[in-house]
Amino acid sequence: MPLPLLQLALDNRSLPDALTATRLLATEVDVLEAGTILIGAEGMQAVRCLKTLYPDRIVLADIKAADAGSILADMCFGSGADWMTVICCAPIATVTSAMAEAKKRGAGYDVQVELTGSWSWEEAKAWRAAGLSQLVYHRGRDAQAAGQSWSDEDLAKIRRLADMGFALSITGGLTIDDLPLFAGLPVKVFIAGRAIRDAADPAAAARAFKARIAELWG
Ligand code: 5RP
Ligand code: MG
Repeated sequence: MPLPLLQLALDNRSLPDALTATRLLATEVDVLEAGTILIGAEGMQAVRCLKTLYPDRIVLADIKAADAGSILADMCFGSGADWMTVICCAPIATVTSAMAEAKKRGAGYDVQVELTGSWSWEEAKAWRAAGLSQLVYHRGRDAQAAGQSWSDEDLAKIRRLADMGFALSITGGLTIDDLPLFAGLPVKVFIAGRAIRDAADPAAAARAFKARIAELWG
C-alpha cells in the first residue's frame, strides 16, 4: 500500500495569512489546498499564487462546486489547480462536465467529489460509472463543532468506497491522534488544516504527521 500523502488545508481568511503558513510548510507537505474559506476570501488569485510559488506541489482548489462544473473547472485548472472539488449533492452533470475539463488538460488534472453532508450509494455507483476516481471523505467543520466524531460507520463506508475503486482523501478536524483509526485502509491523502497551521511549531506538526503516517502505513 503506498504511503498516504499529506495535504495542507489553507482555510485562511486572507492570502497573506495563507502565505505565512506556506513559507513554513510548503516543503513539508505533498499537496497544498486553497481552502474553501481562502477561495471565498481571495478568489482564484489564491490558487494562482500557490501554483506560481510552489510549482512542484500538487495544488487543490477546494471550491466544492455545486453547479457550472465546466466553467468553475476551467477557472480552477486555468489558475493552476491540479485537482478541484465538486460537492456530493451536485448533479451528475456537474461532476461529468468538470471531469471533461480535467481530461481536456491531460494527465495529472483531476476532480474529486467531496462527501460533506448527504450522499447515497446509488450516487457513488453513478460517479464510479462516470469514471470518477477520487473522493474526499469529510467530517464537516460544522458537524465536528456540533460534536460529531469519527465512528465505525465512517470506517465501514471508507472501506466500501475503497473497494468500489475510489482513491480516498480523509479530512475534517484531523489530528495526529486520529491516524491510527484509519490504519489498514488504503488512504490516498490525509488532509489537515488547523492541526498543523495552528500548532505552536507548524513545521514540527507537519513532520510529526508524516512520521506517524510512515509508521502506520510503511
Ligand atoms: C472545511 C474544509 C477543510 O479544509 C478541512 O476540514 C480540513 O481542515 P481542518 O483540518 O482544519 O478541519 O474543507 O470545509
Ligand atoms: Mg478544505
